[in-house]
Amino acid sequence: MDRLLVTGGAGFIGSNFVHHVIAHTDLRVTVLDKLTYAASREALAGLPEDRVELVVGDIAEAEVVDPLVAEHDAVVHFAAESHNDNSLHDPSPFIRTNILGTYTILEAVRRHDRRLHHVSTDEVYGDLELDDPKRFTEDTPYNPSSPYSASKAGSDHLVRAWVRSFGVRATVSNCSNNYGPWQHIEKFIPRQITNVIDGVRPKLYGSGENVRDWIHADDHSSAVLRILEQGRVGETYLIGADGEKNNLEVVRLILKLMGRPEDDFDHVNDRAGHDLRYAIESGKLRQELGWAPKFQDFESGLADTIAWYQEHEDWWRPHKDATEAKYAEKGQ
Ligand code: NAD
Ligand code: DAU
Repeated sequence: MDRLLVTGGAGFIGSNFVHHVIAHTDLRVTVLDKLTYAASREALAGLPEDRVELVVGDIAEAEVVDPLVAEHDAVVHFAAESHNDNSLHDPSPFIRTNILGTYTILEAVRRHDRRLHHVSTDEVYGDLELDDPKRFTEDTPYNPSSPYSASKAGSDHLVRAWVRSFGVRATVSNCSNNYGPWQHIEKFIPRQITNVIDGVRPKLYGSGENVRDWIHADDHSSAVLRILEQGRVGETYLIGADGEKNNLEVVRLILKLMGRPEDDFDHVNDRAGHDLRYAIESGKLRQELGWAPKFQDFESGLADTIAWYQEHEDWWRPHKDATEAKYAEKGQ
């Protein structure tokens, strides 16, 4: 393998993955990204020009995707509409990018017989009760709740069908909630950090008892690279770092780390259909491929992330007012 095509490589996790690949392999990378509101060219700054190229284009357009896939040895597919709240407002780009876009990539890798790794989410499994001793595994039945998670579930089913029916050489990963630098400020952790920087109280949906299983984006990247290099074709691997925390705990930790009283937040309107708990059992990935997360201490990872947002105000500041105005319309 010499040339890698990374879709969505200008987004939060995709850009982290490109940096990881450049640092840990000799591969050359082409990023295919539509540069939606969620993308950022800055996240790719400083990478070697002779090893990384950005192509601006839409994964749902076969005339863009097909020739690019033909020129590369493998595709790692991150591109997606990724925010649940946006999918409740307007599902249409989620259907187009996540389902039609994945279909377009599958047809291209089928035509040119290229290796594919499809990046997906734990949300395809629906949610768990708070006291359920079980966690999600590769055998958990699909049960998505939101237009976003249903569109990702649809994309996973397409990949599995193309593997079985057409022999496409693909793997799938389903990861839990990521945190770290370059995450759009519409998402929970960066929204609250930037609110506190602005002297605004964090906004907690509903009771705040909802649990997410946090993993640092660097660990997601190392897992995806490991699966690309060593995963068994046709297999699904769950990625998680045993990071279950409820939203109330996370908000209190952000406030504590930023020197604010731990009750200095507001409860706001809940998300429609809000999933209660996600939790990943990642034993298959760890035992079969020997992967382990490096960020084991959420508090120190969060402290680094807070420092990053404090130091990169020029990056997020232009988007803050518009992001908050959208939430304010919904009482959130
Ligand atoms: P993001 O929203 O930050 O980035 C998505 C990227 O895809 C952006 O750069 C955007 O411009 C690009 N894109 C969107 N539509 C496109 C199109 N039609 N053609 C080409 N490019 C397009 O998302 P993220 O949080 O980095 O998530 C990346 C992937 O990882 C997604 O597939 C998501 O479902 C999955 N995932 C995310 C998380 C998480 O916690 N953020 C967890 C598990 C899985
Ligand atoms: O589980 C993986 C998924 O994690 C990914 O597939 C998605 O792309 C990613 O966005 C994320 O989805 P969530 O919906 O869990 O993430 P979000 O950051 O939107 O919200 C995390 C939790 O925080 C969720 O329970 C909703 C809550 N929340 C969110 C916001 C934006 C709040 O309480 N207040 C907020 O302001």
